Order: sequence, then structure tokens, then C-alpha cells
Amino acid sequence: MSAFDILSFDSALLNSPAAIAQAVRKVYRHLRCGRRVTVRVCGARREQAVGWLGFAFEQAGIPFGLAGDSTSGAESLQLALSRDPPQSDSLGTPVSAAPLQIVLLGLGTVGLGVYRHLCAHPELFDVRRIVVRDLAKHRDDGVPVERLATHLWVAINEPADLVIELIGGIEPAGDIVHAALLRGRTVVTANKALLATRWDTFERYARAPQPRLRFSAAVGGSLPVLETVARLAAEQTIERVRAVINGTCNFVLDELAQGTTLAAAVAHAQRSGFAEADPSVDLSGADAAQKLSLIARAAFGSAPDPRHISCTGIEQLTPETVRAARGRGQRIRLVATCANVRGLIRAQVRPEALPASDYLAGAHREENRVEIATTEGTRRLAGKGAGRWPTSLAVIADVDDVLEALVHHAPALPARSAHR
Ligand code: HSE
Repeated sequence: MSAFDILSFDSALLNSPAAIAQAVRKVYRHLRCGRRVTVRVCGARREQAVGWLGFAFEQAGIPFGLAGDSTSGAESLQLALSRDPPQSDSLGTPVSAAPLQIVLLGLGTVGLGVYRHLCAHPELFDVRRIVVRDLAKHRDDGVPVERLATHLWVAINEPADLVIELIGGIEPAGDIVHAALLRGRTVVTANKALLATRWDTFERYARAPQPRLRFSAAVGGSLPVLETVARLAAEQTIERVRAVINGTCNFVLDELAQGTTLAAAVAHAQRSGFAEADPSVDLSGADAAQKLSLIARAAFGSAPDPRHISCTGIEQLTPETVRAARGRGQRIRLVATCANVRGLIRAQVRPEALPASDYLAGAHREENRVEIATTEGTRRLAGKGAGRWPTSLAVIADVDDVLEALVHHAPALPARSAHR
């Protein structure tokens, strides 16, 4: 049974979108430490504030229940109205003497979400430079044009505490991330392809207790998959992990079940901001294999190269096949599995026709689901695994951790002035 936290907020504090977003970030950081959380909202406008919080959790893909409603099935997060006198927790990100200097690489679906989070707190974050491929594309994003640039290497040499890498792919992202780390920057990235294939280069920077490389968003959007697997691995023996970890494929499979063609379903996933720049990376199962490699490493301490994981995608599936499975009471899902079989790590990605009662079968649209079997039981996780707000929440939670480490453990991090 996981530990239980109660966070109380005064509705008078939850009076703006920025304040709601800050409260969600605070709650999320408790959830990803494996805590079960009850959020109590008191004060005159508590019903309105709970409504806004509910909307924000929904948008970020974090399942929640309302206290007293036993039908929601969301065990980890409950929202409750409280008549207690206001005695609120602060919304609190740590107070920093000077804003964190940030270089942001990439302003796509996730990058723009991260930028919105950052610019809501100029007292905490100073986004000095944002690197994009095409300046003209970002004229209407509400980003100061003087902060935009197109040269990765110039940006990486600018003074900064933190580089957020959201350009994806192995190169040039790999060399850029490495260069930033060598220059003493801390790096937050969502780049599963890079970490899964070049782990040997980056492992030393990702080591606890104060990693300079953080990558929670690489797997599962706002589901804290890697954190949960690592925590369980430290406490118990993990035998097997089964997961639906590609939101695009799951979304496409749901559309195929409605009779939509593969091409139309993929186009819809692209418009929704779930698919990779090249959606064949999703459809082929390669994206799931990269994520599975990171999960296997967290679970078992070693992992297969994602390019060597046995992998079958969903490109060959037709609406007829998917609907026929439904007719038999089954759901086709792209399932990624890794297991430790007498010391050998077995990993595979393939479409499976699951009974409707299977936990993974219940993943809808871009939702991800993960089932971790240990010698002591089974832990299950569900939430939105793709899209702007779920993924940018995971990135920003890493950024908040960097900020907190800087405030509380300043001597252990590179001196902020030394690398300017
Ligand atoms: N293309 C990925 C997916 C994005 O659909 O799951 C999130 O990693």
C-alpha cells in the first residue's frame, strides 16, 4: 500500500489558470513519488476551484476521483470539498534567489506546452533562447521573437543553468545534449530514442542522487512509469512488465474499430499532437520498443538495444481485423512486454488480441496502461501517454526538481556563475 498525503488548498489561492497549473504540478510531484493524494479544497469558492482542478487534471491525463464517489476507480488521486477553515498548503514551487536560466530546444507540441508553463513564472524561469527549425512557423505562438533562434550550437554555448531538449531523434540531439552536459548544464529531455540507444554515453549524468540528466517524459506522458518501475525494483523483484505505451497506436486502433481507415486515423493522431514527426516510428512499434528498453533498464538494471527487440507494429491491421476481434469480445492492443527469465531479459512489442477484461485492453485513445508484476503482487498505472499537456507536465515536474535541487543543494550542482 502506498503512502498517503493530504494537500489542502484555499480556494482564494486557486484564482487563475497559472495558480491551478501550479497546484496540479505540486500534486503531480507527490503522485510521481508513489504517494496517494487527497486534495482538500476549502474556502468560499471551493466548488468552483475543484471544478477547475478537475478540468486541469483531465487535460493533463491524470485520473482522479471525487471523494465520496466510489465509481471512479481512480485510487491515487481524490478531490474533496472541505468545510474546514482555510489553512492552506502553499501552491509552492521553491523560492529561488534568481530565475533559472533556460535554453529550450524545440517548440513543437510539447515544447510550446513547456514554454507556456515556464513563462507563467518569470520569477522562477528565464527562457533565454528557444531554438526552432523555421522561425516563420512560430510567429503566432506568442513567443518573443528576439528569443527565437535556429542554430542549436550557438544556443548551447549561451549561458544557462538548464537545457530542455525537445527536438527528438538521435542526431543532432545526441551531440547537443552531450555538449550541454559537458559544459556543466543540467538537461531535461523527453527523448526516448536517444536514451534507449546511447545509454552508455548518458548513464553517468543520470545517476542519483542529483542527476544532471532527467527524462521522466520519455515514457508514458504524465504516467510516472519509469519512477514507479525504479521504485518497485529497489524494493521488490520485478518479474514482468506489460504495457500499452504508444498513445498513437492505441488511438489509431480505437479509430480502426470505428471503421476509420488507417490513413485517416493516423492523420487524426497527427492533428491531435500524439504522433511522432514520422508516424511510421509509432506504427512500426519502434517508439514502443525504445520506451520498453528504458522500462527494462529501470526494472532489471540492463536492457536490450531497442533495435534488437522483437517488434511487430500495427501497419498491417485493417478496420475489419480490429472489428472482428471486437465481435469476439476482444480488443487489439499494441502490447510491449519485458520479463526477466532466469537472468535473461526478454522483450517484445506486438499487437495482441486481449480479452476485454484484461487491464491493458481498457486503454482508450491516447491512454497508456502499465502492469508491473513483482514477487509481491501487481501494480497498475493508467493515464494519458501522449499529447501536449500530459507530456509537458512530466517535463515541467523534472524542471521543478532541478529548481528544487538548485535551491536546496546548491553546492552539489555546478556553480551557477561558473559556466556563464
Ligand atoms: N508518439 C508517442 C506516442 C508520443 O504516441 O505515444 C509520446 O511518447
